[in-house]
Amino acid sequence: MTRAACTFDFGARNLVLAGGGFTAGGNAFEIKARGLTVGASGTLKATGNRDTGGGTITLTLGAGGLTVLPGANLIDLTGAKLAGTPQTGGGTFSVFSDGDIILGGPGIAVDGTTTDADGRPTGLTASAFTSVSLDPPLILVCVSHKSQSYPAMLERGRFAVNFLRTEQEDISKRFATTRLDKFDGVPHRMGKLGLPVLTEALAHVECVTVNKHVEGDHTVFIGRIEHCETTDGMPLVYFRGKYDRLGGS
Ligand SMILES: Cc1cc2nc3c(=O)[nH]c(=O)nc-3n(C[C@H](O)[C@H](O)[C@H](O)COP(=O)(O)O)c2cc1C
Repeated sequence: MTRAACTFDFGARNLVLAGGGFTAGGNAFEIKARGLTVGASGTLKATGNRDTGGGTITLTLGAGGLTVLPGANLIDLTGAKLAGTPQTGGGTFSVFSDGDIILGGPGIAVDGTTTDADGRPTGLTASAFTSVSLDPPLILVCVSHKSQSYPAMLERGRFAVNFLRTEQEDISKRFATTRLDKFDGVPHRMGKLGLPVLTEALAHVECVTVNKHVEGDHTVFIGRIEHCETTDGMPLVYFRGKYDRLGGS
């Protein structure tokens, strides 16, 4: 099936979607502008229909950033659903912005996998992580084929890694379960690549997948770091089946 792709380039202007907007079915569209405001009743939508997966929305914004006002419609990229059951995967929402991103609206439903009925972000605790290269900056993470997050890792082509601090043992345990509401109640925001990043983590990197290697029952995802942030603190350590801190205590 061929899908349409459109680019709307507003150059150095600010775009305000008030009481209208863009609806693209399962297709791809990109909006380029200095800034974008999705006003009350404003719409950004690329949902699937019947057996079509969600589309792709890319926002490339300058210093004006992205503002989604309260009352805006859900930014919706969910896949096709039948009687509430997902039939296809969700789409991809990417925001590249030089300015601030303020989400005051009802949120974004992307639904990275066909198994996530409610469009929730997905993630897992992983210790199989290492740096690979400085130039370009590459890292790797190994993900089990049994992991619920695995299809999303394959389909989205980008991922974030959050480095937990000593005090975040409970979050590590939570993300080592298969529950679907892992992000609920855990402070997070959308990062520069439109990926959920944990706001209280010690650091995070946002990566574009540049290579994948299937090895046994895991796939090694090689990611090129596009953005990273660090804060002060000490890392959570997992050693000999127990959580610990550097230097022990
Ligand atoms: C300390 C620790 C490290 C882990 N490291 C990995 C890892 O590197 N790769 C992996 O696929 N699973 C790893 N796991 C297991 C996953 O976190 C676990 O299977 C989780 O339930 C997967 O969630 P999901 O199925 O919702 O994606 C680790 C678990 C723990 C507790």
